[in-house]
Amino acid sequence: MREKAYQNDETEKYVSQNTNISDEFHADIHKNSSKRKLKLLLTFFLILVLGATYFSKQQALTHSSNSPAVASSQSSELDGKTQRRAKKLTGRFIHITDIHPDPHYVEGSSIESSCHRKESSSSALDEGEEEVYKKKKKTPKKQTKAHKFGDAMQGCDSSMELMQESMKWISQEFPASEIDFIVWTGDNIRHDNDRRIPRTQTEIVEMNKNMSDMFHELWAVPETEGPFLPETIPIIPSLGNNDVFPHNVVDIGPGQFMRTFNNIWASFIPEEQQRSFDRFMSFFQEIIPGKLAVLSINTLHFYKSNPLVDNCNDKDQAGYQMLIWFGLLMQEFRDRGMKVWITGHVPPIEKNFESSCYQKFNLWCWEYRDLIVGGLYGHMNMDHFVPINGRDLGERLRGANLENMDLDLQSRQDTVGNTDMSSDAFSINNEVTIFGAKPVNKMKYIKTLKQQYKHVSKLQNKQNSDTFDPADYLVINVAGSVIPTFNPAFRVWEYNITGLYDNDEDAQEYDQLNEYLPWAEFFTQVDEQIDTIVHEDYENFGKDTLFTKLKESIMKKGKKKNKKNKKKKKKQKKDKSIPPKMPKDAALGPAYKPQLFSPVSFKQYYLDLPRFNKNLKQSPKDTVFEYDLEYTFNNTQMESLLVDGYLKYCKSLIKDKQLWKKYLKWLFVSTDYENLEDN
Ligand SMILES: *[C@@H]1O[C@H](CO)[C@@H](O)[C@H](O)[C@H]1NC(C)=O
Ligand SMILES: *[C@@H]1O[C@H](CO)[C@@H](O)[C@H](O)[C@H]1NC(C)=O
Ligand SMILES: *[C@@H]1O[C@H](CO)[C@@H](O)[C@H](O)[C@H]1NC(C)=O
Repeated sequence: MREKAYQNDETEKYVSQNTNISDEFHADIHKNSSKRKLKLLLTFFLILVLGATYFSKQQALTHSSNSPAVASSQSSELDGKTQRRAKKLTGRFIHITDIHPDPHYVEGSSIESSCHRKESSSSALDEGEEEVYKKKKKTPKKQTKAHKFGDAMQGCDSSMELMQESMKWISQEFPASEIDFIVWTGDNIRHDNDRRIPRTQTEIVEMNKNMSDMFHELWAVPETEGPFLPETIPIIPSLGNNDVFPHNVVDIGPGQFMRTFNNIWASFIPEEQQRSFDRFMSFFQEIIPGKLAVLSINTLHFYKSNPLVDNCNDKDQAGYQMLIWFGLLMQEFRDRGMKVWITGHVPPIEKNFESSCYQKFNLWCWEYRDLIVGGLYGHMNMDHFVPINGRDLGERLRGANLENMDLDLQSRQDTVGNTDMSSDAFSINNEVTIFGAKPVNKMKYIKTLKQQYKHVSKLQNKQNSDTFDPADYLVINVAGSVIPTFNPAFRVWEYNITGLYDNDEDAQEYDQLNEYLPWAEFFTQVDEQIDTIVHEDYENFGKDTLFTKLKESIMKKGKKKNKKNKKKKKKQKKDKSIPPKMPKDAALGPAYKPQLFSPVSFKQYYLDLPRFNKNLKQSPKDTVFEYDLEYTFNNTQMESLLVDGYLKYCKSLIKDKQLWKKYLKWLFVSTDYENLEDN
């Protein structure tokens, strides 16, 4: 009964909203500005879309055919995706990453065979492999046989049981009604760690498809929740370095691979972004139209281990072009007054990103600190955060750009932290083949991390206090993974939605929609602008682009100069992959000041695999598969989850040995890795 009433109420709002738009249309039709006309035409188009969506949904709901004229054959095409509305928010979302299910995983198989074969350890290895394995001797606690749900730190990927039970438990504990969206940051298939069963493109695609379907199914929104809702809560996947074949390698699109993922993620990528996705494999979803979005970045275009990535300075580089794309989107979000989470697989730290990409991407994120809520990443399997000084990057990049745009930024290449044996080096060598997911040399990375914390800590000392500004920084969050590189883990975030529903939610929502270009229109412009910049020559600059002013200033300068100077002039041209500075009058966003959408806490969940395996052996019937709360990170742990809070926490971590110990324990997901020898 109540549900019905709710539905009718909602329907009426839609009707009256549409009438208003229509009235405005008639009243304004004679105004003379051509820009206005364009806007009105677009508004009219919007009415059609809304109308068609409304009528088709209405038909589906009531099974009546009162409006046959409008519910045309086009309606299904327009249905849902472009004009969906958000479900009422709960202020909670999930971040899950690096699931790495392995269809070849066999319970009871030998660890040395990557958990694929039940053989004695020596015969599981190819000739020569055993020696490498012995030489490394990195095995924390020697173990020989694979448990059904996996073993922490042994180096195997996730068993299908671990993946399935984890997904089931998480979706039961945090169903669609309890969370607003899911950030899912990639690596949905095993590592390439077994020479006898090399990975194939087909396998990678199939597993990604199966995982996508599973997410879609498990977080479907029940129809009883109301009309006009999307099929699922927003799920925002990112491409992992193991989701491509061969691993780490992806080029700029379009191409068959992009089309394949466009299909696999069809229910996650808004229709109007499909073309844009075909180019970069990056996209965003609006959580609340006109207010909050989650943007998924294909970090492989910045990734050192992708052999196609040279830098982010040359216009033919995917990374350069994606920075332009990112900038246009950020500008649009700012114009619309929207806030945005940035998500991706590989965290943008010096260890991972090619150095010009590292600097530029993070500078973009910093210059949009009025709207970026935070950065959420995976890939490292270690639960931690990284502070980055944005002001510093700006000074470096802008200084370098003035002198010579082509300055080799490689000289700034990180000197530390790049030496550990990561599982994703491009070259196929023995270690990589054998130690796919095994934690090796991680304490080396932690040392460089601690150096960074120490640096930030020093700057906060009294003698530096007048020069230290927390707003100079941005903070990157890296989540623990499901794959038991340490223990399986995922994270539940809470963010501030206080005041969101104080006003009439729907009215606000549609006011927002009407003021701006439909996204489809916007993306057509984005495409054109990227092409203009990439194939730039002054004369061919399009009109009415966001860069008109820039163009004019460049052309003025150009006319004065001799033609012979053209080459030199070109070099001095502004590098558009470096962001403009944040406007002086822009207020700091949710990452810096407590406000709507500010992060307020997260809960870290984990599966204590050694304990679980032991219990399962002792009393299989009484042992339930469930994750435990590992810790809650809120204002009892640190002052706030804002940038300022993280920076102060750095200081505490350096000062307080016990706190650092606790931090390390969480960082390695309570496996005790930090206390093992050979870590
Ligand atoms: C994916 O799902 C299909 C259909 O359920 C199944 O036949 C197939 O084995 C699955 N593939 C993998 C790699 O799990
Ligand atoms: C939550 O947002 C409200 C305004 O919407 C603000 O007054 C409050 O300080 C914020 N709290 C936190 C913890 O961000
Ligand atoms: C913060 O977390 C602690 C557990 O560590 C919990 O007891 C407390 O209630 C939480 N506080 C808030 C405000 O959620």
